[in-house]
Amino acid sequence: MRKGEFAYEGKAKKIYKTDDPKQLLVEFKDDATAFDGVKKDRLQDKGILNNRLSAIFFRLLEEKGIETHYIETISEREMLVKALDIIPVEVIVRNIAAGSISKRLGIEEGIKLKKTVLEFSLKDDALHDPMINHYHIYALDLATAEEMAVIEEAALHINTILIPYLEQKGITLVDFKLEFGRHQGRVILGDEISPDTCRFWDSSSGEKLDKDRFRRDLGGVVDAYREVLRRLEGGDNPALES
Ligand code: TMP
Ligand code: ASP
Repeated sequence: MRKGEFAYEGKAKKIYKTDDPKQLLVEFKDDATAFDGVKKDRLQDKGILNNRLSAIFFRLLEEKGIETHYIETISEREMLVKALDIIPVEVIVRNIAAGSISKRLGIEEGIKLKKTVLEFSLKDDALHDPMINHYHIYALDLATAEEMAVIEEAALHINTILIPYLEQKGITLVDFKLEFGRHQGRVILGDEISPDTCRFWDSSSGEKLDKDRFRRDLGGVVDAYREVLRRLEGGDNPALES
């Protein structure tokens, strides 16, 4: 695999082509943004931590039979992935009320939902990722009913894999966001799974170990990400040193 020309820059990642048109290289940046890029900062080593954490989650999901775009880790900030035709629908899975659902529906943060909630947003920063439903998805031709069935089943299955895995590390999975895309006729998991895209709470203290520390100016953002990596990876390794 050879790193090719720069293809695209997102808020937290840069994408490069490779010499294989079916593969891309993802570089995780240290940039942090919130509220559709209104709040910005650079958090030293965040990219390294998210590259490591995403790889751990993708490998775990692959082991459990969920196809992801992850191929291999190339360097401390880079992973090789399958090129996807991204479906512009963000899929949010919620176990516990927090963030926008708490505001929108007036539910206190921390209340366990009686049933897992799936939400969909149009992936469009300029429109602030508005929430949409199946009618919008089909009316705008964003995905087919067959694709949505695959996506929903995968999202719920991923939740049932991640909850006990994280709980055993002392982390409560509050909610998370997934993105899917098409690859050689199949719909598979893309993007990243990291504290940027999940809410992780310490199971005993309730301490936030995710990007809410940045969104809410709580400080200690990178230390919290490092703590998540320490719990998932354990042992001595250089990425864990502050
Ligand atoms: P929300 O409560 O703000 O809607 O966020 C729900 C989950 O989605 C939370 O784990 C954070 C994640 N998320 C993203 O990954 N990207 C986003 O742009 C937003 C708003 C949330
Ligand atoms: N990722 C989004 C942004 O950059 C929002 C968020 O994660 O809160 O604005």
